[in-house]
Parts: sequence; C-alpha cells; structure tokens
Amino acid sequence: MFGGFPLSGKIIAITGGASGIGFALAKLALESNAKVIIADLKPSSESTRLVKDHENAHFLKCDVTRWDDLALIMPFSESKLGDVPDIFVANAGVPETEKNSFWDDNDSERYSALDINLYHPIKLTRLAIRALLGKQKKGVVMITASIGGLHGHFSTALYCAGKHGTIGFIKSLAGAEEEAGVKVVGICPGPVRTPLMATVGKRLSKSDQTPILLEPEEVAERMKELIEQGKYRGGMALGVYWPGHAEVVADGSTSLLETICPPDVIAVRKIIAAERGI
Ligand SMILES: NC(=O)c1ccc[n+]([C@@H]2O[C@H](COP(=O)([O-])OP(=O)(O)OC[C@H]3O[C@@H](n4cnc5c(N)ncnc54)[C@H](O)[C@@H]3O)[C@@H](O)[C@H]2O)c1
Repeated sequence: MFGGFPLSGKIIAITGGASGIGFALAKLALESNAKVIIADLKPSSESTRLVKDHENAHFLKCDVTRWDDLALIMPFSESKLGDVPDIFVANAGVPETEKNSFWDDNDSERYSALDINLYHPIKLTRLAIRALLGKQKKGVVMITASIGGLHGHFSTALYCAGKHGTIGFIKSLAGAEEEAGVKVVGICPGPVRTPLMATVGKRLSKSDQTPILLEPEEVAERMKELIEQGKYRGGMALGVYWPGHAEVVADGSTSLLETICPPDVIAVRKIIAAERGI
C-alpha cells in the first residue's frame, strides 16, 4: 500500500514549471516545504524571482524533446539537493497552433507536438522509475494530461490524440505502484487561464464561444492532493474541468484488457529487480 506522500521535505521536478500550471504547482510545493526543480526551455520573469527568493528552488534549462536533457534532471537534483527527485511532474506541453496542427498540416517530417505532449511524459516516467528503483525509494509521477485526453475536439485533434495517449499510458502503469513503488497518476484540466490557453483562445475567438476558465492555482491544489493522498492510487486520473469541479476519470482498477490478456508480469519484475540492484 503506497499510502500518503506529503510534499513536505520531498524533491519535486516539474517540466514546464516556469509558466502556468507548472509554475502554480512550483509555488504551492515551496509553500508546502518541498524542494523544487523547474525544468523548462527558459526561465520566465516570475520563475527567476521564485528561484532568487527561495534557496530550495532551482532552475534547470531543459528541452523535454531531448531525452539527454530529461536525463540531466537526476544528476542536477543530486548535486543541488542531495538526491534524485521523489516526485516527477511531466507537465510541459504545447497547444495545437498553425505550425503544428493536424488541419494546417505544416509539420514536414513528424508531428512535432507529440514529442512534447506525449513522448516526453512517457520517457520521463521511464527515467523516473529507473532512478527511484536505483535509490530504493518510493515516488510519484504526475502527468499533466487534459480534458482533451478523454474527449475529442474537432479543430485540435492532434492535441487530443497526444493527451489520449497519456491517459492510456497512465492506465497501463497502474501496476507500477505495487510492483515498483512508483505511483503514476494524471490530472486532466479543462481550459485554464495560462499563456497556452491564450494561444488557443486566439484561435477559438474565431468562433463565438468563450471557454469557462480555471485558475492555475486551483489545478495545482488538485495536483497536490493527487500526489499526497493515498486514496489516489497509481493508474488514476482526476478530471478538473471547471472551477469547483473534480472527478475521478480513470480509477486505476482492473483492466479488461489485462483480464482477457494477462500481462507478462514476470518479465517486468525481472527488469524491476535488476534496476533495484537485487
Ligand atoms: N491551459 C490549459 O487550458 C490546459 C488545459 C489542459 C491541460 N493543459 C496542459 O497543462 C500543461 C501546462 O500548460 P499551461 O497551460 O500551464 O501552459 P504554459 O504555456 O503556461 O506553460 C507551458 C510550459 O511548458 C514549457 N515548454 C514548452 N515546450 C517545452 C519544451 N520543449 N521543453 C521544456 N519546456 C517546454 C513552456 O516554456 C512553458 O513554460 C500542458 O501539458 C498543457 O497541455 C493546459
């Protein structure tokens, strides 16, 4: 049983932590007595101030599309804070804009947004599990998915496909809590007042509908609960679609697919044992 996991005293690394939801979580984590690594392309003015004002806050330049940048989180954390992170938040994300949209079709070789919105959470989770096993400690991986991970959206189909991918991934890792001591959970916000949403808003403003907006601080509060509270188990995702709303949208319980087609747990256990060094 994983149990409670208070932020106090923990090290939390947040990709995309210089802005929006990630920044709100960084602030809340510091208020909760955690040590914070903001891993982002570049610092924002507010994240620069935060790092300057808190000795337990650090900025790491990191492009999440580069896996060697993601791997740098471990040595950076060990050198600045004495250990690998206890909590990893794969939060960096980009909206679907003209340059990377399914409909505009301007990507020439690959859907570049998927590198950020889908592949980085998967790779960061793998790196996190290996690092935590190597240190024989429990940990949490939180992925910032979206309401677009559970519901389709005609004009932003690529964004939704990527976010649906993260939900399938979170569900598939439900067993990591028991097998590896790593709780993998997700948050699925509705529209949130952030720079990302402002970009989407410009495109939406061509229609006559105004989205109902959440504040990033409210989403960060729900993320803290998901990390800290034992009632939220690995494989779960929480939908926070509008102010005051929260509902479990993936419950981490038995998978029909695993019932019909049992997974090869023995093979995975061998890998986990090797990474634990036993
Ligand atoms: N704002 C919303 O309405 C909303 C709704 C649901 C989900 N989300 C998700 O929340 C997450 C955070 O978004 P936000 O709204 O706070 O946006 P934001 O634009 O305020 O913050 C995103 C951060 O990610 C960083 N980033 C982008 N590409 C990166 C890269 N390659 N490497 C490292 N960092 C990179 C940006 O520099 C920025 O600091 C995203 O995953 C987004 O998809 C947002």
